[in-house]
Amino acid sequence: MTQDQLKQAVARAARDYVAANIGEGAIIGVGTGSTANFFIDELAAIKDRIAGAVASSDASKRRLEAHGIKVLDLNEVSELPIYVDGADEIDAELMMVKGGGGALTREKIVAAVARTFVCVCDQSKLVATLGKFPLPVEVIPMARAHVARELAGLGGQAKLRQGFVSDNGNQILDVHGLTIADPVRLETRINQIPGVVTNGLFALRGADLLLLATPAGVKTLRRAGATNPS
Ligand code: A5P
Repeated sequence: MTQDQLKQAVARAARDYVAANIGEGAIIGVGTGSTANFFIDELAAIKDRIAGAVASSDASKRRLEAHGIKVLDLNEVSELPIYVDGADEIDAELMMVKGGGGALTREKIVAAVARTFVCVCDQSKLVATLGKFPLPVEVIPMARAHVARELAGLGGQAKLRQGFVSDNGNQILDVHGLTIADPVRLETRINQIPGVVTNGLFALRGADLLLLATPAGVKTLRRAGATNPS
């Protein structure tokens, strides 16, 4: 199976999960990236069952709208039963590194509102320890050099993502070489550096459910204590 076939399979599984776990007229949170794109294409098949979606990026918004799915501003929405998104890395506790596509801040905001975070990945994303994938950190442009020095103090080498501006008008530092022994602590620590908008560790709010595509089928892993969406 190719990686795209695995992404397609997990997107279909996520569509079935959404269909089985929402009430009529629910609003769905939708992530960003290539796996999320497959999910958006699948969501179109059940669009009559949802009132709309909240998107974590301008790119996902455009793709949803191209399918005729209404996109709402998060401020108009009081609850999201489910948020579906990919990850760059995920561990057995369903903590993640995200932001390879640069949408980490909006992803973290939408995930914070959602009752259930469903992560959709192919098996290459499951790791024993987070940190091989460079950690994205969104920064206010004037703080870039300061934040990079602070990250060096934490053991990471920050590289500016060239030619990239986030949907929020900010820059991204990709941080190499971090040892992520305690993801919750590191997420909190980096977010305290003045000028950091947020970092791509999703440990304080990890996923509740992982749908993991393997050549043998889509496996389901649930975080201990995770609640149901509906
Ligand atoms: C976007 O900023 C990211 O957080 C994506 O969710 C993540 O990079 C996964 O993307 P792919 O599905 O393209 O691997």
